[in-house]
Amino acid sequence: MATILAVGIATLDIVNTVESYPSEDSEHRALHQYKSRGGNATNTLVVLNQLGHNSAWAGVLIDEADSQTILNDLQDHTIDTNNCRRLQHGKMPTSYITRNQQNGSRTIVHYRDCPEYRFDDFRKIDLSVFDWIHFEGRAIDDTNMMLRHVKQHFPNLPCSLEVEKARPEIESLFDLPNYLLFSKHYAVEKGFASASDLLSSLADKLTATCTWGESGAWVKTNHTLPRHIPTPSQTDVIDTLGAGDTFNAGLIHRLVNGDDLVTAVSYANQLASHKCGQRGFNNLVADFTFQK
Ligand code: FRU
Repeated sequence: MATILAVGIATLDIVNTVESYPSEDSEHRALHQYKSRGGNATNTLVVLNQLGHNSAWAGVLIDEADSQTILNDLQDHTIDTNNCRRLQHGKMPTSYITRNQQNGSRTIVHYRDCPEYRFDDFRKIDLSVFDWIHFEGRAIDDTNMMLRHVKQHFPNLPCSLEVEKARPEIESLFDLPNYLLFSKHYAVEKGFASASDLLSSLADKLTATCTWGESGAWVKTNHTLPRHIPTPSQTDVIDTLGAGDTFNAGLIHRLVNGDDLVTAVSYANQLASHKCGQRGFNNLVADFTFQK
């Protein structure tokens, strides 16, 4: 069991399930609606908690009505919020999500009026208790300072960085973590035709993964060519929301336990695919078996 800190966001997710994806300027009835806690960093922690790790979240918590749903879920998964920045005014980030019943796709409209977690908050954390730190690739200047801080004061503490969106200057972070976890979304936004093309464009010394939906993931360790790790096909895709966050959790879980990167990616692929077969994250690992 490891103790893992994730720096990033928690959101309120309002998920409407629809029969098929709507066309513009049309009106539809949702088949079902639920509200839950979301956000990449906290989704990853919820899965890591189920995999047996102690999880702590560093992010911004605003004292408003919607934060209760978020706090309840974090409490249910025993995620430590002591390192959060707490504000009295503002609104927790909120995602309005349309889930297409036909194929499990999720379309997200995200509203945000909440400051980012700052380096000034992060520098106060006692990092000596952690075995791993996972960062979302956001608030680039502050994240840059956080990663440098870890490198300088805790050079043996492994760090992973999720690169999900092509934010300005995000590439300035690439040299700093031990593992770069790219999404297909980032690769496509940057004009790469494949995960392999993206990974081949990186400096030789970097270690990185890139997921590509149902095709699985590609992995590159320092000075090796990208290698494809296929994923088992999920025949019954129910809900893809947070599949990438689940992949990241699976990867961190196996790496922190001492596995090699290829085994860790294989495990993460299978766990993410398993997640797509169920709604949400609850009881995700109970009936999951890794096929080596
Ligand atoms: C899924 C997710 C949702 C959240 C959105 C934020 O990866 O974390 O839970 O609403 O992305 O971008």
